[in-house]
Amino acid sequence: MPLVVLVGAQWGDEGKGKLVDHFAGEADVVVRFQGGNNAGHTLVVDDDQVIVHLIPSGILHPDKLCLIGNGVVIDPQVLCEEMDGLRARHYFDDDSRLVISTRAHLIMPYHRRLDLAAENRKGRNKIGTTGRGIGPAYSDKMARTGLRFHHLLDPERLPGLIRAMVAEKNLFLTQVLEEAPLDAEAVVEEFLGYARRLAPYAGDVSKVIEERLDQGHKVLFEGAQGTMLDIDHGTYPFVTSSNTIAGAACTGAGVGPKRIDKVIGISKAYTTRVGGGPFPTELKDEIGARLRERGKEFGATTGRPRRCGWLDIFALRYARRVNGLTEIMITKLDVLTGLDPIRICVGYRCQGRLVEEFPPDLETLERCEPTWEEMPGWQENLAGCRSLEQLPRPARDYVRRIEALTGVPVAAISVGAEREETVVLRHPFEK
Ligand code: IMP
Repeated sequence: MPLVVLVGAQWGDEGKGKLVDHFAGEADVVVRFQGGNNAGHTLVVDDDQVIVHLIPSGILHPDKLCLIGNGVVIDPQVLCEEMDGLRARHYFDDDSRLVISTRAHLIMPYHRRLDLAAENRKGRNKIGTTGRGIGPAYSDKMARTGLRFHHLLDPERLPGLIRAMVAEKNLFLTQVLEEAPLDAEAVVEEFLGYARRLAPYAGDVSKVIEERLDQGHKVLFEGAQGTMLDIDHGTYPFVTSSNTIAGAACTGAGVGPKRIDKVIGISKAYTTRVGGGPFPTELKDEIGARLRERGKEFGATTGRPRRCGWLDIFALRYARRVNGLTEIMITKLDVLTGLDPIRICVGYRCQGRLVEEFPPDLETLERCEPTWEEMPGWQENLAGCRSLEQLPRPARDYVRRIEALTGVPVAAISVGAEREETVVLRHPFEK
């Protein structure tokens, strides 16, 4: 089982970083393949909390190779700051541990400006983006006007390319959005600095992965955001601008689909969402507030409070299909301690009728009412549990019910923020 893809099965923030960090010890290579610094993976090792936005969560293990694939959009400023922060804490002492695809697109200062300006103009219909320039950077990629990482390797051409792009974006910023223009020369200076710093990390990520797989190494793909934020399969337009599902590992890193051995979906034991958009199982009451407080549900990137609700099996079954999930890992089961009963959404009803498949349009989705199943809760602290048998009976039943309703086996359960606070039923690289 040398190639395992790990993706978010909900609206992001499922705790992928913690599990990637936990299992990275069993991998040789960890790869990011989509998204950018809209992601924020919170990792806790020996009480030391580290948040990474761009660099794969495998970086905290001293001997792992970390790759950033072509499908990621890279803000060089954020990348440099993240590298400095990790280096200062001795998590990144060896430069050869990071390779960045020459084909990855760059997030430019005008992308951030355009992201914020577009959101401000939307008023009530705001998507609630992270404001990191993600959407505008992917728009330029698709419009074939983006700058890519390999442009940083060509300091002769880089200034001309930046000047041309800034001139074009300034037209839009000043004439349409009535905003101040950017200073092209300042952007050129800034990017020549990044070019000097980042050029040594450039490489052909697809080739590196193939070589490593051919040598029998184990490769873990680390998804960002989650299935319901996928640009095609999520709750459009309240989504991010990349494909977040497992198939994106192929396009976002340059590997063939037949090379993937396992697709693991990560789901919280409940549901959260940041930003706008439909959320059928949302709890706007004291139970929701309690989940937010106990689960520390505040965005790792923007600090925004997350919306909280019960587990949505209907959405999870959809995630199983569009990702081809072979296993599920459940996070934050400990946060449900003390809630009794616990509810699970097992389907949606729209205008009195059971909905058969996850609806594509907001109008239907907003009219959907969850249908519920109730299960008894538990009062015990789960942090010390390391096997299924050590979980209180109702917690075990809850996990088994998730398996039965989704038809996907549960491979691990996270019972606390620390790397070791994990119940492992099946290791990712095990058959
Ligand atoms: P963008 O990715 O910044 O364009 O934001 C689009 C939507 O995706 C917003 O609702 C964000 O809150 C959400 N989003 C983006 N990245 C993440 C993430 O890593 N976790 C959870 N939500 C995210």
